[in-house]
Amino acid sequence: METFQSVLAKKLSDALAAAGLPDAGELTLASDPRFGDYQTNAALILGKQRNENPRVLAEKIVAHFVTDDLCEPPAVAGAGFINFTLRPAAVAEKTMEVLRDDRLGVAEAKSTQRIVIDFGSPNVAKPMHVGHIRSTVLGDALARIAQFLGHEVIRDNHIGDWGTQFGMVIYGWKNLLDRQALQRNPLAEIVRIYKETNERAARDPEVREACRQELIKLQAGDKENLDIWNECVAFSMQDFERVYKLLDIHYDIQCGESFYHDRLSGVVERLLESGIAEISEGAVVVFFRENSELADKPLIIRKRDGGFNYATTDLATIDYRMNDLKADAVWYVVGAPQILHFKQIFEIARREGYTAELRHITFGSVLGEDRKLMKTRSGENVPLRELLEEACKRARKIIEEKNPQLSDDEKSDIAQKIGIGAVKYADLSQYRMTDYVFSWDKMLSLQGNTAPYLQNAYVRIRSIFRKAGESAPRIDELVLADSAEINLAKRLCQFAESVPQVLNDFRPNILANYLFEAANSFHTFYEACPVLKSEEPTRSSRLALCDLTARVLKHGLGLLGIQVPEKM
Ligand code: ARG
Repeated sequence: METFQSVLAKKLSDALAAAGLPDAGELTLASDPRFGDYQTNAALILGKQRNENPRVLAEKIVAHFVTDDLCEPPAVAGAGFINFTLRPAAVAEKTMEVLRDDRLGVAEAKSTQRIVIDFGSPNVAKPMHVGHIRSTVLGDALARIAQFLGHEVIRDNHIGDWGTQFGMVIYGWKNLLDRQALQRNPLAEIVRIYKETNERAARDPEVREACRQELIKLQAGDKENLDIWNECVAFSMQDFERVYKLLDIHYDIQCGESFYHDRLSGVVERLLESGIAEISEGAVVVFFRENSELADKPLIIRKRDGGFNYATTDLATIDYRMNDLKADAVWYVVGAPQILHFKQIFEIARREGYTAELRHITFGSVLGEDRKLMKTRSGENVPLRELLEEACKRARKIIEEKNPQLSDDEKSDIAQKIGIGAVKYADLSQYRMTDYVFSWDKMLSLQGNTAPYLQNAYVRIRSIFRKAGESAPRIDELVLADSAEINLAKRLCQFAESVPQVLNDFRPNILANYLFEAANSFHTFYEACPVLKSEEPTRSSRLALCDLTARVLKHGLGLLGIQVPEKM
């Protein structure tokens, strides 16, 4: 289905051609709705390019613009902007199309890809903490949106389950383990022995050496050490799974670092053979001499002692994703500290001849109320599971106050939707590169750009239908008269414009902000336009608009990984 934006852009392009001008500028939503619904800066751009008066150019474009029944004759404003205002009849017609469409007007992407999304990817023997929220929630939202747009998505959890930390974990397991504590809280006990070994190793070279030996034994396939490793991975995975369940997140594959273990030497051999890597001071190294940015940043892929590292694993991972999974694109949703790492890896992949699109999607940090990296009072990372449970607890309190007569089960279910939704939305509604302050009061507020506000708008609509004892009416035509209902209808048609935009620069905040605007337009409409008390055909038409709003909110929030309750 075409959107207003795409139809107007085509018409603009035709007008430019008819005026003997090339395509230029953009057609976007109007920055100020008083001047219209959409605008273009085409005349401004052309004016600059050709050193001509932009207002004169704008008049020329407008003179060639064919409006049909879609919009009013476009108006020139300011230094040479052209504004477009849709005709209510065109809005009513398009809204009917959206109303009848399961996809709410959202077209599938023109060319679809097979995309591996590498997100979350926590490390074993450490609990997931607040720092994992961004990668996990952002990656999940991008996966949902890409899938909805018709891409084939493979969600991959690249778990850190094979690294030098295991020398310490195994040493700790053999020397410090408290079996009872392990039974009570396995991950906490593993973290404890790991930390304590770490401290001992820092003081005592003998412990350090013993850990190194344990690691070598593990990598050589020693049975006892492999068993311990397996057990630690299983305990960690159980903890991760609980978090994923709370978050309603699933993976298609979970190929952790260990999955690539026996492919690493092959990768290094191949890179040596092809001349991409070379031996330098006993290590195998890739130099980037031709790349000015990386020229002084060589990458070791096999250490002098023969050991492989994180980078070697990522190279093997690319091979697998290209050759076995046949990916057209890989999106790595990983924090900014790894920018250099991925630049190096991507450059090597390019030299190997891989043509897939490799993207590193970075993000800013989650801050505490003191604007420093969020920590617990004792200075530790905040465990993610505790944080999410707290979110549900706080949401439950709100429900107890707002709607005490609900049953206990209903309360728990709603609390989870609101609590988890609030945490996700606080993250996704921000531009991903900005740091944000984690504030319970703000994210759980029923006012402002929050998940509970949007969920509440949805619930209000559901309660209109409950009150009326009706479901959405079947109508053949929308009656749009009041400006508030015209605006709401326009807004609902724009869902189809905002969803694909998210993937241009991986910005779910575009969708979040769209939903916020849609909820605002609904509230304005609801204040201004009586629904159940109005006469037919207005009544049915307005009910249909209410229903469409609810569908857009539910679907849009769903694409962000946020569920809606029916009551709250
Ligand atoms: N486990 C890594 C970390 O916590 C993230 C892995 C990201 N993915 C990758 N293919 N390197 O830093």
